[in-house]
Amino acid sequence: MHLAFPLFVLFILGNGVYTHICLWAPMQRGQFDISTPGAHPCYRKIGPCGNVNSSSSSPRTSLVAGSKYKVEFQQNLNHYYTGKPGALDISFAVGLNPAEGDFHVLHSFSDYNAMNQITQTNFSVEIDLPSQTCDECVLRVRYLSNNPEEDDHGTVFHQCSDVKLTQSSSNALKPKKSEEKTEKPIVQHNEDPHDCCAPESYTNAFFHIIPAIDYHSEGLIFYDKKVQQMRVIVTVNGGRGNTTFDSTFDMWMNFTSGRQYYYNRNTGSCDLYGLDYWNDWCFGNKYNQTEDFVAADVKCTSPYGKTRNCNQWRNGEFLFETLSESACFPSSISRPSGERIDYIKGAAAPIPPSTFVPNSVCMKQTKVKHASVGWMRMHA
Ligand SMILES: *[C@@H]1O[C@H](CO)[C@@H](O)[C@H](O)[C@H]1NC(C)=O
Ligand SMILES: *[C@@H]1O[C@H](CO)[C@@H](O)[C@H](O)[C@H]1NC(C)=O
Ligand SMILES: *[C@@H]1O[C@H](CO)[C@@H](O)[C@H](O)[C@H]1NC(C)=O
Ligand SMILES: *[C@@H]1O[C@H](CO)[C@@H](O)[C@H](O)[C@H]1NC(C)=O
Ligand SMILES: *[C@@H]1O[C@H](CO)[C@@H](O)[C@H](O)[C@H]1NC(C)=O
Repeated sequence: MHLAFPLFVLFILGNGVYTHICLWAPMQRGQFDISTPGAHPCYRKIGPCGNVNSSSSSPRTSLVAGSKYKVEFQQNLNHYYTGKPGALDISFAVGLNPAEGDFHVLHSFSDYNAMNQITQTNFSVEIDLPSQTCDECVLRVRYLSNNPEEDDHGTVFHQCSDVKLTQSSSNALKPKKSEEKTEKPIVQHNEDPHDCCAPESYTNAFFHIIPAIDYHSEGLIFYDKKVQQMRVIVTVNGGRGNTTFDSTFDMWMNFTSGRQYYYNRNTGSCDLYGLDYWNDWCFGNKYNQTEDFVAADVKCTSPYGKTRNCNQWRNGEFLFETLSESACFPSSISRPSGERIDYIKGAAAPIPPSTFVPNSVCMKQTKVKHASVGWMRMHA
C-alpha cells in the first residue's frame, strides 16, 4: 500500500488541468507553482476559496493588524475579454472557512489586455490591513475574468491565504480605524478621437525587460485580424536553456479553432492551450480597452523611439503608447517598476499564410493541457 498516497495525490492534480492566478505573499493555501504559464495550482474556480478548505493546523501567515502590507501574486494566464473587461481584487474575511458574503474588498483594479493569453504578470499591491486582530482569518485574491470561454464553475479564479492579524505595540495605542478603505475599479467611458487599433495585418518586433528579476526577451509578432491568427516568436534570457525563463518559443494562435500552441525550440516539446476569443490589438475605451486616454503627441518613453512622439493611455500602473504619426503602431507598455515592452519596426503588410501554420510536433499534440471544461465543450 506504499503507492496509495502518491497515486491519490496525482489523481487530485490531474483534476485541475487549467490555470490563472497564484498568490505567494501571503502564501496561498495548498499547492503553489508558477514555474510555467498555466500552472495547475493557479486554477481554483469554486468560490469562495477554490475548494481548498482550511483547518486549525493549516499553515498561517502572521501579519500586523492595521499595518501596510504588500500582497504579491501572479496572473498566470491573461483572459482579457473585450465584451466585458474583468478585474482583479484583494479581499478579507474573518473566520477559518468564511462564506462568500463574509469577504469585503480592500482593493480592486481592472484587468489589462496583454494581447496574448500565455503571459505571466506579477503584481505587488500595497494594502492597509484591517485594524481588528484575528486568530483565524483569510486574505484572498481573485481574478474576475468575465470570459465566457473560461466558464467552468463560473469565470472567477480564487486564491486564499490563511492569516492571523496580531496587535503591534504601536497600534494598540492608536484608536481603531472606523472603516477599511475600499477601492472600486473606476469605470469610465472617455472615448477619445485618438483611440485606435493597430493595422489589421502587421508585423512588429519587441523587447521585454523586467529589471527586478533581470529578465529580458526579444521577439517578433505577426498579427492578422482578417484571418484571426497570431504568431509570436520569443527568445527569453538569451535562449540557451530549456525552461520557460531561458529558451526560444513559438506561439501559434488560431482563433478559428480556439487553439494556442506553445512550442519550446530547445526541448522540442509543444503544449496545447485552449484560446479565449479573438482580441483586437486596440487602445482606448472606444474599443472596450480598460486603458483611458491620457495624452496625444508627447515624447515616447521608449528608448528605441526617443525622437518620436506617442499617444498615451493608462490603466492603473500600465502605460500604453502608440506612435502618433503612424497608423496606431504600438510603441510600448510600461510599469513604474521599470518593466517595459518596447515595440519596434512595425510594418503593415500581408503575412504569408505559412507563418500561421504550426510545426508538425504541435499538430500532433491533441491533449489540451490548459482549457476550461466550458472551452472543451465548445471546441474539443
Ligand atoms: C470545503 O468545505 C465546504 C463547506 O463545508 C464543503 O462543501 C466542501 O466539499 C469542502 N471541500 C473540500 C475539498 O474538502
Ligand atoms: C463592448 O462592450 C459592450 C458592453 O459594454 C458590449 O456590448 C460590446 O459587445 C463590446 N464590444 C466588443 C467588440 O467586444
Ligand atoms: C514573479 O515573482 C516570482 C516570485 O517572486 C519570481 O520568482 C518570478 O521570477 C517573477 N516573475 C516575473 C515574470 O516577474
Ligand atoms: C485554424 O483552424 C481552422 C479550424 O480548425 C483550420 O481550418 C485552419 O486550417 C487553421 N489555420 C491554420 C493556419 O492552421
Ligand atoms: C534541460 O537541460 C538540462 C541541463 O542542461 C538537462 O539535464 C535536461 O535533460 C534538459 N531537459 C530537456 C527536457 O531537454
